[in-house]
Amino acid sequence: MTPRIAIIVGSTRPGRKGSAVGQWVLEQAKEREGASYDLLELADFGLGLLSEATVPGDADRAYENEQTRAWSRTIDAYDGFVWVTPEYNHGVPAAFKNALDLLYPEWNHKAVGLVGYGVDGGVRAVEHWRQILANVRMIVVRAQCSLSTFLDWRDGAFTPTERRPRELKRVLEQLEEMAGLLAPLRG
Ligand SMILES: Cc1cc2nc3c(=O)[nH]c(=O)nc-3n(C[C@H](O)[C@H](O)[C@H](O)COP(=O)(O)O)c2cc1C
Repeated sequence: MTPRIAIIVGSTRPGRKGSAVGQWVLEQAKEREGASYDLLELADFGLGLLSEATVPGDADRAYENEQTRAWSRTIDAYDGFVWVTPEYNHGVPAAFKNALDLLYPEWNHKAVGLVGYGVDGGVRAVEHWRQILANVRMIVVRAQCSLSTFLDWRDGAFTPTERRPRELKRVLEQLEEMAGLLAPLRG
């Protein structure tokens, strides 16, 4: 089985830096043979703020809102994810956390690789995500790619420094390995 991986751009902010990061991840990943990769912009899903009456773990995927159902179908189709995350006020971005909170079984037994960015590489958000993602029974790989808004952007353009492709490669290798190992648990 070749794992299907979605790269999720988790910022929904107009003018977000995250789109360039997601495009770069896709460029680096698309020639890889260990998995297939798609790029998703969370903003395209128009999700409501925890707009479901039933707790996701009890809903059995019977969501009330079509936007949530479309998000559920999309996430169900993937074996793993690259989480492209900014850091907002030393934590995870609210819209991305909401998108996670809206679902539950769709995330279970899937692998995640974290690509963070911020003035300190987004590392506080990334460490926060590790704690959160464990609760939806996802396995986050050890390698991470931490992009600095000072070093990896020049004049507003994303220009990753020389070591970043190697860092990302390690994330993708571990992600593909973990997505494969978890496949039997997903049935
Ligand atoms: C509400 C808000 C809070 C922020 N807090 C942080 C922060 O805690 N740490 C950090 O490194 N950058 C912080 N920033 C700056 C972001 O790193 C920067 O705006 C980046 O472009 C956000 O990613 P995005 O453009 O993809 O949304 C914050 C930005 C916003 C909008």
